[in-house]
Amino acid sequence: MNSHPGAESLASGAAGREIRQACELSSTLRGFAERSNVMLSRALPDSTQPPIPLHQAMHYAVTGGGKRMRPLLVYASGCAFNAPLEHLDAAAVAVEMIHAYSLVHDDLPAMDDDAMRRGQPTCHVEFGEAMAILAGDALQALAFEVLARDHAAPISADVRLEMMRILGDACGSHGMAGGQALDLAAIGQHLGANELERMHVLKTGALIRASVRLGALAAGCRDTDLLAALERYGHCVGLAFQIRDDILDVEGESAELGKTAGKDAAQGKPTYPAILGMQASRIHLAALTDEAMTSIAMLGDSAAHLRDLARFVAERES
Ligand code: IPE
Ligand code: IPE
Ligand code: MG
Ligand code: MG
Ligand code: MG
Repeated sequence: MNSHPGAESLASGAAGREIRQACELSSTLRGFAERSNVMLSRALPDSTQPPIPLHQAMHYAVTGGGKRMRPLLVYASGCAFNAPLEHLDAAAVAVEMIHAYSLVHDDLPAMDDDAMRRGQPTCHVEFGEAMAILAGDALQALAFEVLARDHAAPISADVRLEMMRILGDACGSHGMAGGQALDLAAIGQHLGANELERMHVLKTGALIRASVRLGALAAGCRDTDLLAALERYGHCVGLAFQIRDDILDVEGESAELGKTAGKDAAQGKPTYPAILGMQASRIHLAALTDEAMTSIAMLGDSAAHLRDLARFVAERES
């Protein structure tokens, strides 16, 4: 198993420089991100074809940067079962399209009212609110279309249907959209630690968990123990991802984050640092990272990319 920082090193401000050096992605993972960029561009509608503003807004939302964390999880999970990358492309594209749509809607004035995303004006600032809403709608629909029409992966109709069910569940009212509803309802309210965890597990964790699961299913994994282990890994990494996002909102700089820092406190958002405090948030993040590593121990060396990603989630600076 690769080493990763424990609670103490993550909790220590003095570890900042080490962390900056440690959070680079491996060249393989950077290659996966590049591959997902190519696949996303291929899957998007031709932006010279009508309705041109809608198609341009969809391209803008998807192709303007981003870490591609969810596609990376699909590829890393599928690679743990030796899947050829072309079997994983459709799932990688689908989860990033859902994620990009969620960001466009998250930034709308009716939600977080953000003007910067991935270092650029947000989609609604660039294209107007109506077109941003429609771009999100169309990206969500396209994600399912991409999964449905994928012929590269030799998977049965039953498994394909199961993958679409998992994605639907992850982005619906029992997943991301449900978590976003809890987030908005909680503004200015006091949440307990359990309610906070539930909100984060839904709004961010659900799609991350689904990404890991889709990669394994597209790779042909049907072993219930292994799928349960990956589910636990996805749960831990998904929650850790949002805790790190909350921490970065407090400690990060807008220029490095590519989005406005400090907005959670300004908007009275319930976050880990706001509710548990910064030190407890760091300790919880480190414990989740440990648990993510432990949960996939049975996969041995084949899970190296998944381990790298869990470490990256805990240490990332943007
Ligand atoms: C930001 O997600 C929104 C959250 C779910 C916390 P990312 O940090 O993955 O955003 P990009 O895709 O890299 O821009
Ligand atoms: C967003 O959480 C989660 C989504 C489902 C998009 P945040 O509102 O904290 O994400 P950022 O900080 O705007 O990227
Ligand atoms: Mg939000
Ligand atoms: Mg937001
Ligand atoms: Mg945030």
